[in-house]
Amino acid sequence: MSKRAQFATKIGVIAATVGSAVGLGNIWRFPYMAGENGGGAFLVIYICCVLVLGIPLMCAEFAIGRKAQTNAGRALKVLAPNSAWHIIGYIGILASTLILGYYMVISGWVVEYIYQALKGELFTMSADVITNNFNTFKTDVWRPLVWVFSLLVINYLIISRGVTKGIEKASNIMMPLLFLILLVFCGYALTLPGASEGLNYLFNPDFSKIDGGVVLAAMGQAFFSLSIGLGILITYGSYFKREVNLPRTGLTVSLLDVLVAILAGVMIFPITASFGISPTQGPDLIFVTLPNVFKQMFMPGLWAILFFVFAGVAALTSTISLFEVAIAYISEEFKLGRKKASLIIMAIVAMLSILSSLSFSVLSEVKLFSMNFFDLFDYFSANILLPVGGFLLAIYVGWVMKKKDFRAELSRTEETSSLLYKLILFSIQFIAPVAILFIFLSITGIFKI
Ligand code: PHE
Repeated sequence: MSKRAQFATKIGVIAATVGSAVGLGNIWRFPYMAGENGGGAFLVIYICCVLVLGIPLMCAEFAIGRKAQTNAGRALKVLAPNSAWHIIGYIGILASTLILGYYMVISGWVVEYIYQALKGELFTMSADVITNNFNTFKTDVWRPLVWVFSLLVINYLIISRGVTKGIEKASNIMMPLLFLILLVFCGYALTLPGASEGLNYLFNPDFSKIDGGVVLAAMGQAFFSLSIGLGILITYGSYFKREVNLPRTGLTVSLLDVLVAILAGVMIFPITASFGISPTQGPDLIFVTLPNVFKQMFMPGLWAILFFVFAGVAALTSTISLFEVAIAYISEEFKLGRKKASLIIMAIVAMLSILSSLSFSVLSEVKLFSMNFFDLFDYFSANILLPVGGFLLAIYVGWVMKKKDFRAELSRTEETSSLLYKLILFSIQFIAPVAILFIFLSITGIFKI
C-alpha cells in the first residue's frame, strides 16, 4: 500500500490549520461582535470559550483523524466498526460542501474588489456610488460567477498537487503573507488620530452588555472560527505525523486565530473612527464601509489592494480546507486519483455556487423554507449540521471511544500531563455537549434566552 500523505513539518501543520481557521469570520464578524457586545468583556468570554470548548474539541477531531489514518467519512468506520458513528463524517462532508456553496461566492466578491482596486476604480467613486457598485455587482448574473470559476481553478491547482506539495506549501507561503499585511495595516492604523477611540470601542469592557445570548453567540463564533465540527480537523489530523503534539497544536492554532481576530479589530476600528465612518458587520463592512474609508486615506490604492489581498488569502486557505474534506473522502473511498476527485467535488461546488450567486439576481424569488439558496446553504450548514456534528463528536470521543486510545493519541511522543488530559476530557464529556445543545436550541429558535 502506498504511504499516506502527511504534512512534512510542524510549521506546515500550523500554517495549514491556522489557514483553515482564519477566514472571513475573523475579519468581518468577530471585530464587530466584540465591539457591539461589551468590548473587553466580550473578549474575555470569547477567549474562555476558545480555551474551554474550542481546544478540547479540536483535540478530539485531531485524535480521531490521526488514530484512524483515513478521511473523515471512513475514520469512524475504522474506529467504531459496525456502528452508526461514521455519520459524523458524512455530516462533515455534507456541511463543508454546502458551506463552500456560499463561501466561494463571497470569496469571489473579494477577488472582484482586488481587481477593482488594481484598476484604480474603487477609490474614485462617491459614497453612493460605492454602495451601488456593490449592489450592482452582486446582482449581476455573470460577473460574480467568473470570479467563482477563477477561484475554483486556483483551488484546483493547489489541492490537486497533494497534501505536502499543494496544501502545505501554499499555506507556508500564504499565512506569513497574511500576518505581514495585517501587521503593516495595524501599524498604520495605530498612528491615525482616531486610534484611541477605535481601540476603546474594541477593548473597553462593558460587562452590562453580557447576557446569555451574548455568551451563546461567542460560543457559536468560536466553533465557526476554529472550523470545528465539519470533519476538517479530522481530515487534517490524519495528515499529522506521530510527533505532532495535539493539545499544543490546538492551543497554538487557537491563539493565532484569536490574535488575527483581535488584530483585525485593531486594524479596522481606528481607521473607521479616524475617518468618521461607523463600522458595520457582514459583507457591507468590507465591500462598502472600508472602500469608503480607503478612498480618504493617503495612497488609497495601496491600502485597498493590501486589504483585499489579505481577505482573499484568508478566504482561500479556508476554502482549501473545506474542499479537502470531501476530496480526501471520494479519492480514497472510490480509489480515484486526487485530480479526478478534485474535479468531481469542484463540479458539485460549482453548481451550488451558481445557485447561491444567482440568489441575488434571477433566482432571488426562489425560496425554500422562506430562504434563498445563499441563505439556505449558510443556515443549514452552520446552524444545523455544524452543531449536530460537533455534538455527536463530543459524545463519541467523550463517552464511546476507549479512554486509553484517546489518551494515547494525545501523548504519542510526549506525555500529556494527567491534569491536562482530565480537563480536556471533562470538557468533551460534559461542557461541550451541553453548550452545543444550548447553541443549537437558541439559533433554531426552539429556546429563547
Ligand atoms: N473558520 C473560517 C472563518 O473564520 C471559516 C470556516 C468555517 C472555514 C468552517 C472552514 C470551515 O471564516
